[in-house]
Amino acid sequence: MFISFEGIDFSGKSTQIELLKDHLIDHNKKVEVLREPGGTEISEKIRNILLDNKHEMLVAEAELFLFSASRSQLVREKIRPYLEKGIYVISDRFHDSSTAYQGYGRGIPIDVVSMVHQLAIGDTIPDVTFFIDIPVGIANERKKKKSKGKLDRIELGNIEFYNRVRNGYLEIAKNEDRFKVINGSQTIETIQNQIISELELMDRR
Ligand code: ADP
Ligand code: TYD
Repeated sequence: MFISFEGIDFSGKSTQIELLKDHLIDHNKKVEVLREPGGTEISEKIRNILLDNKHEMLVAEAELFLFSASRSQLVREKIRPYLEKGIYVISDRFHDSSTAYQGYGRGIPIDVVSMVHQLAIGDTIPDVTFFIDIPVGIANERKKKKSKGKLDRIELGNIEFYNRVRNGYLEIAKNEDRFKVINGSQTIETIQNQIISELELMDRR
């Protein structure tokens, strides 16, 4: 099974991914966790370009291509081979991040973003995507606490940008059955239980 996690920065994705990984391992599953952008040697190099604070002149189109380049490599080098071996793949962000951030956030038309996805990932689309939804204000509070003032290039984006990204995710949810919206303002444990219940439901279908 291929599972992705989405949400604005600081929504709680990494926290939930660690918990889900442990849960699956406890149930004798083989699990690989990957992060985007990154996950392969080449993709990690592309990640450094994307998150570098010096690159504030990076244009939206280049950003989309770089995220997609990183993802193309990850899909072919890691994700497809893992899935073929029956390994559970959990990805911290995947193509929906580009739709939300570069499409809805930066304003690249959504049909153009979808065409780029078609080339980058083909039919390697997650079976289920957990979108952990929190208001931008709560994300900002967490951000201030955790990063002690050190933010990367994309995290420096303003509140309007993050609201467009969040609303973009909610738009995706309207059109995609695989997209499960989870209220990220709940406790870590409640969110974890909802994710596990959803996966158990899918297993039974
Ligand atoms: P992301 O991977 O989406 O950026 P993290 O999992 O790193 O988010 O969480 C960001 C911060 O919020 C961390 O300090 C984490 O401990 C905290 N956090 C995560 N989930 C919750 C939650 N449900 N309630 C309160 N704080 C949370
Ligand atoms: P990262 O430090 O991995 O953030 P997080 O812990 O929130 O996942 O940085 C990834 C940043 O890149 C994050 O701000 C979201 C952004 N991003 C895009 O804009 N488009 C994409 O396609 C992806 C994968 C990430």
